[in-house]
This record gives sequence, structure tokens and C-alpha cells, in this order.
Amino acid sequence: MFPKDFLWGGATAANQYEGGYLSGGKGLSTSDVIVSGSHTRPREITWINPKTQETGRTGIGFASAMSFPVGAIPAVLEDEYYPSHVATDFYNHYVEDIALMAEMGFKTFRMSMNWARIFPNGDDSTPNEEGLEFYDAVFDECIKYGIEPLVTLSHYETPLALAINYGGWANRKVIDFFETYSSTVFKRYKGKVKYWLTFNEINMMEFAGFMAGGLMVDTPQTKAQAAHNQFVASAKAIRTARKIDPTIQVGMMLGYQPTYAYTADPKDQLLILEKSQTGLFYADVQMLGEYPKHRLLKYKREGIVLEDTEEDYQLLKEFTHDFMSFSCYGSSTYTVHTENLEASGGNFIMGIKNPYLETNAWGWSIDPACLRISLNTLYNRYHKPLWIVENGIGWDDELTEDNKVHDDYRINYLKLNFKSMEEAINLDGIPLIGYTMWGCIDLISAGTGEMKKRYGFVYVDRNDDGEGSLNRYPKDSFYWYKKVIETQGKDLD
Ligand code: BG6
Repeated sequence: MFPKDFLWGGATAANQYEGGYLSGGKGLSTSDVIVSGSHTRPREITWINPKTQETGRTGIGFASAMSFPVGAIPAVLEDEYYPSHVATDFYNHYVEDIALMAEMGFKTFRMSMNWARIFPNGDDSTPNEEGLEFYDAVFDECIKYGIEPLVTLSHYETPLALAINYGGWANRKVIDFFETYSSTVFKRYKGKVKYWLTFNEINMMEFAGFMAGGLMVDTPQTKAQAAHNQFVASAKAIRTARKIDPTIQVGMMLGYQPTYAYTADPKDQLLILEKSQTGLFYADVQMLGEYPKHRLLKYKREGIVLEDTEEDYQLLKEFTHDFMSFSCYGSSTYTVHTENLEASGGNFIMGIKNPYLETNAWGWSIDPACLRISLNTLYNRYHKPLWIVENGIGWDDELTEDNKVHDDYRINYLKLNFKSMEEAINLDGIPLIGYTMWGCIDLISAGTGEMKKRYGFVYVDRNDDGEGSLNRYPKDSFYWYKKVIETQGKDLD
């Protein structure tokens, strides 16, 4: 049994779904210069050296620390294909898409706002009215159907000008620009949007500085500073929200999955301890209000010095988040004995293949227990309501000649995941607010930029070369999810 007021829904992000990358006065954002990688490689950014006209690409994540020639700047290159520029065009399809969500019975819709649509350069003194109107129209459409918007302020996109002119989130000035942005939208959408998230998967700063924080120099020092600045910016956003409308709830968002030890060797258990410390550090600051000691000691050991103030730490203590949200797709397994073992797939949080688990074509583990385990771990540590804001399975779905998608694999995956959530609620007493399935309408992949890695209940006709009508077709899982919501999760068959 799920609670009566459980918020069932789906999730998206502007940079993977919205498109309209130059429409309505929008400025460029960091995601606009990211091109496709491949199935196994992370995506890359494109750059140009304005003096020499030399152009190129450089990695943004995994093991590849970002580096490009001195003087080069990230830019959109004419001969490159950028999947996110059109994505699946929510910008021009939002009326139709929200109607489809309503048909499924969504109670909530998680989306993100593109900061550069509101402040094209990030440091502008006035917002772009056309951008504000676009989101007004989107929220009005949700409200028409009784769908509660859940809005992420920053999901892997920073106005590109802030990266180029300020070095992105490593610069404390960006805290002020974010304060202007967040207070502008809290005021504008007061009464329309109650639930907000500050930074999507804030812990991705650990792995991909350009994507998570517009960092032009990606080093342990700049990443630590950028994370600190985002913590302070989040705390300030909570302070502002409470002044503007005390009913607003601001959540933090962590990319999380349980970590399993491959063997009983104590060395493996210690490895898991370290992985969990890193994984939970970001949530510890945002939910508990202070830096854990192990992180401060690590910074000391590595010679990392933060540019900070006493007020920063007071803000962190006073303005912790109202609820905690997280993404969870599976689990990861680690060992020190890696010889002859196959590596697992995943975005940043990887490890080795767990022999007890199946995977999808991208090597991501399928592990329904991950939800019950995560919910218990996070609630027992933070004691705040939880919200699963991303979960789902990427699959190369096939559209039949009569425009159907028979995605039993997705239905089976979700069924087992929902049972796991139900156990956490009913057996463990975890206060779970809601669930938003990732990529509820097909969108481009964050990790690879592919279209063929589809998550949705609705198929969008667009391929990896940017061809297709962009028409929408409900998959079998669309009708299944509709029934799940109608029966409040009682009928999972
Ligand atoms: C999460 C991100 O980490 O994983 C999403 O918040 C992303 O933006 C999702 O799309 C799934 O990853 P991918 O690489 O399959 O798109």
C-alpha cells in the first residue's frame, strides 16, 4: 500500500528535454557546448581558440580531467551535432506532453529550469521576460491538471558566460548570481511552485566539474571550492525561499546508489567505507549542516584550502534542506581484488560487475533492492522525508509498424522497484513523499547524448542523427503506469 497522497510522476531536465537552445532570448549554457560521446565514452565539450581558430573536443568526466589549450573557450562549432539543441523539443511540445502526463494520472512532474533562459549571461541585471513567460505557461498547464511541479534550479547547466568570464562555480561571485536567479523565480512562481530542488546530483562535482559547475579548470582544488560555493548558494536559496513564501519546500538532490563489497575481505569493507564517505559527504553538509571531519582532514592532507567565511558555516548550519531527494538506478559493487573481473557500466559511480545481477545494454545493474536499501540508509542518517526523483531503465526500444512499443522489460523493472519502495514504506516505516520516473517522455542521455538510450513511458520519434518527426507514441508501460497510479500502487500486474 502506498500513502493516499503519494506523489507519483515523472522527471526530466531542461538540457536533455527542452531544446529551443536559442529560442525566446535564451543564452548559451554549458550543456549547449557538449557533444555526444559514445556508448562507452563520456560526452565531450567543444572549444575554439579565437586567436588561432583552432577547434577541438575534450572530455568532461570519468578519468579525463578537462583540459584544453590556453586561450581556448567552450563554443558551439558549426560542423558538430549537438543532441541537446533540439533534444525532444519540450519547448514546442509542452502542451501535448503535459496532457500525456495527465492522462497517466501524474500527481507531480519534475523538470528543471534553464538558468540561461532567465538570465542569458548569468550576471544580467534584469531577467529575460520571455523565458519567465515560458515557464509560467508550463506551470499553468501543470496546474490545470492538478499536477504539482517539482523544479530543479540547476540540472547540469550553468550559463556559459559564467563559465567563460568567471570560471564557473569555483568563483564566489556566482553565489550572488544564483541568489538573484533563485529569488527571481521564487517570487515569480509563488503560489504555482511549492517544491524546489537546488542542484541536481550535487555530488557529481566530484567527477565532472564542467558539467556540474561550469569549471574551466577541473582540479581537486577548484572542485572543492565549487562544491562549497554551491552549498552556500543552496543555503541562501533556502533563506530566500522562506522569506518569500514559508510554504515553499526546498530539497537537496544526491546521485546515490548502495555500494556492495564483492568479498568479505576487510580490505573490501574499508573500500566500501571510503566510497560511502565520499558518496554521502555532499548530503551530510546539506542535511546535517556541517562538513564531516573526514572531508576536512582529506582537504588538509591534499593541500586544498577553501576560500570561505564564518558566515558560510552559519548559513550551512541554519539552512539545511527541508527534504532529501535522490536518484537511484541500481547498485555498485567494489573490491580491491579486481584482477580478471569485468568493470560495470554507469555514469561516474561504477565499480565491477555484480555476478548476481542482470544489466541493461549499457551495463547498468538492475537491482530493485537498491531502493529499499537506499531509503533506509538515507532516512536513518538524515531523518527527513525522502523523495525518489530519478529511477528507471534505459533501453533501445523498438517502435513497431503500428507505432507501439512493447516494453515488458521496463514494466518488470518498475514493478520490482515499486515492491521495494512499498517494503520500505510498510515494513521499515520510511516517509517517502513521491516517486518520479526518470525521462518519463523520451529524452537524450546525459552520459552519452544518445537518443537510443530511452527511458520513457512515451516514445519520441527522433534518432541519434537528429532525424525524426518528434511525434509522441505511448508505450505499453504508459498504460501500465496509468493503472498503477489509478490503484495507488495496489495493482502492479
Ligand atoms: C542521472 C542524471 O544521473 O542519470 C540525469 O541526473 C541522467 O540527467 C540520468 O539522464 C540517466 O543517465 P543517462 O546517462 O542514462 O542519461
